[in-house]
Amino acid sequence: MVRTVASQASMTYLQTWYRTTGIFVSHFVSASYSAIMSRMSRRNRVIHGDNLAALKTLAPDSVALIYIDPPFNTGKTQRRKRLKTVRAAGGSRIGFQGQNYRTILLGEQRYADQFDDYLGFLEPRLNEARRVLAPGGSIYFHNDYREVHYCKILLDRIFGRENFLNEIIWAYDYGARTTKKWPTKHDTILWYAKNAANYIFNYDAIARIPYMAPGLVGPEKARRGKLPTDTWWHTIVSPTGKEKTGYPTQKPLGILERIVQASSHPGDLVMDFFAGSGSFGEAARRLGRRFILIDSHAPAIRVMERRFARYPDVRFERLRAVISRTPRRHKKPILGARS
Ligand SMILES: C[S@@+](CC[C@H](N)C(=O)[O-])C[C@H]1O[C@@H](n2cnc3c(N)ncnc32)[C@H](O)[C@@H]1O
Repeated sequence: MVRTVASQASMTYLQTWYRTTGIFVSHFVSASYSAIMSRMSRRNRVIHGDNLAALKTLAPDSVALIYIDPPFNTGKTQRRKRLKTVRAAGGSRIGFQGQNYRTILLGEQRYADQFDDYLGFLEPRLNEARRVLAPGGSIYFHNDYREVHYCKILLDRIFGRENFLNEIIWAYDYGARTTKKWPTKHDTILWYAKNAANYIFNYDAIARIPYMAPGLVGPEKARRGKLPTDTWWHTIVSPTGKEKTGYPTQKPLGILERIVQASSHPGDLVMDFFAGSGSFGEAARRLGRRFILIDSHAPAIRVMERRFARYPDVRFERLRAVISRTPRRHKKPILGARS
């Protein structure tokens, strides 16, 4: 944050100096200015604001990989409560050694997940996503059984059916189970290239997993493990584990790291414009990619501020500031500029 303020101040100073001293120093100043701009574009960014407006400030063809996990249009408010159980005389729960315990509510995170026109909401954002994707880039679109089939048709229209690469099933096995139908325990992730003739798939970098029946493949193969198929078994973020941020619908780093590893290179710019708790940014940073995260919900930004507090290279910005700093929208944007 301090570094951000400092570079903004030095930019303003340079601009003023340039205006008053004129052409004599123009070469030196423009070199320093581009150095600053280039350094700024290298930072990891979190933008607080509506993603459609934010996407419009990004350079075309500038992002190597997009992952998005929009609200699923469940018709409900998504909530995650933070609870703590404490020992208390008269508490209604009986625990270890017959002691009484009471559960206290520490806080609650929530966001609304209901749309009158869900596809109408997604469409302009997906059009922008396609525009900003680099020629060799790709997009992973995460959804669930309620809407994914309608979204597939929309994505086919925007990205081209011929650019559809995979339907990935993320299967988990956690939480309540209905006894009235098959319990729904999977999400669907649709993967599209901007151009299926040219996209990144780092086959050799993907972490291998154990064979289900190692006895059938011989010791050498069993030792190496196998490349995951399009069905990914992975636990959800444990409500009591270290990874949990308390944000509803937080996705596990294991899933996101696999996506980043397979579909981008170290140093690439990657983006999640429905960022929530910022898990995709965390995965990207761990693997040496630069990221842009966008979310319109203040509690999500607060969770990300806590999460990224230890990383000096993550810069938080309000959308208004991003728009006002973008010199000529769509033409010479700062964000997403190639460094
Ligand atoms: C399903 S959550 C994402 C969870 C995230 N993948 C994670 O691992 O924490 C969807 C997020 O989209 C955000 N969102 C919804 N509409 C938005 C919009 N128009 N612009 C930016 N963010 C939006 C919500 O605030 C919410 O945080």
